[in-house]
Amino acid sequence: MKTLTYRDGDTIDAIGLGTWKSDSEKVGIAVNAALGVGYRHIDCAAAYGNEEEVGSALKKSFVEYSIEREDVKITSKLWNNAHKHEDVLPALKNTLNDLLLEYLDLYLIHWPVAFRPGLKGSPKDDTDYLSPKQAPIIETWEAMLEAKKQGLVKHIGVSNFSQKKLADLKTKTDHLPEMNQIELHPYLQQDELLNYCRDNQILVTAYSPLGSRDRPDSLKADNEPSLLDNKVINTIAVKHDATPAQVLIKWAVERDTLVIPKSTNPERIEENFNSINIELDEEDHSKIKSLDKHYRYLTGNGFETESEMYRNVFDE
Ligand code: A2P
Repeated sequence: MKTLTYRDGDTIDAIGLGTWKSDSEKVGIAVNAALGVGYRHIDCAAAYGNEEEVGSALKKSFVEYSIEREDVKITSKLWNNAHKHEDVLPALKNTLNDLLLEYLDLYLIHWPVAFRPGLKGSPKDDTDYLSPKQAPIIETWEAMLEAKKQGLVKHIGVSNFSQKKLADLKTKTDHLPEMNQIELHPYLQQDELLNYCRDNQILVTAYSPLGSRDRPDSLKADNEPSLLDNKVINTIAVKHDATPAQVLIKWAVERDTLVIPKSTNPERIEENFNSINIELDEEDHSKIKSLDKHYRYLTGNGFETESEMYRNVFDE
């Protein structure tokens, strides 16, 4: 498996298992199947509501397959309702407790948006948010640094951060995030942000690499374009005797990003892992390049407030 290297020389496998939208009843089977076929990178988050089940499956699978804890890279994310400095470590400890782990390999600030501390569910109006003045991201970040210092996490980073937000954070800290996890696929290629991250030694993880079609309807637009049904992707798949999902995953890997396809189906989990075995050529890459249409499946609209407190999460 191809690995990517953090600033300190530590490595992480390019392909990980995504667990967003994985039902609690199925996520354990998914984690077990993934570790069984060779995945050594699992992407989780408190907000996915399934970390307890992931934790039980990790524990069981480590024994079943004689896997050492340190050989698997596990990511989780700080939810928006715990951005206050004093709330970060308790939230991380809850996640560790649920995942049955002593430490995480990577902890990310899930979104650059702060909710009222402890808020359950989605915000209803402005009073359910904290403004950037009430919960400055630098204070959240300093608590993340503290978590790393205490050895609770090996690496820290962010998710859904625009170049503007990274650049702003850079003016306030000497310790830039080690990872930015963002939506990335042929319809949203984000070359500029990728270059910025590369120049600043920030690794990038591609989420929703297959178009995330199992999102709840409330997060879907009418007539959204399908990546898996795209003609160009399907033609390239036929050429390599591969599947469209494998082309999408390998494309991400060949751009030197990490990628976390979600599946709870053991056959598809294996298929996705095996995408490492295909090799795209220059012609494939140039055809895929022309598919970019700056299309976001996850618009972040749900986090826009009535007031000016949060507008356009991605600064576009
Ligand atoms: P399932 O979990 O039933 O396999 P994303 O990673 O972009 O969020 O996409 C996840 C969606 O893609 C899920 O609906 C998942 O369904 C589906 N999926 C995952 N792997 C494959 C595959 N190899 N072929 C087709 N669909 C896939």
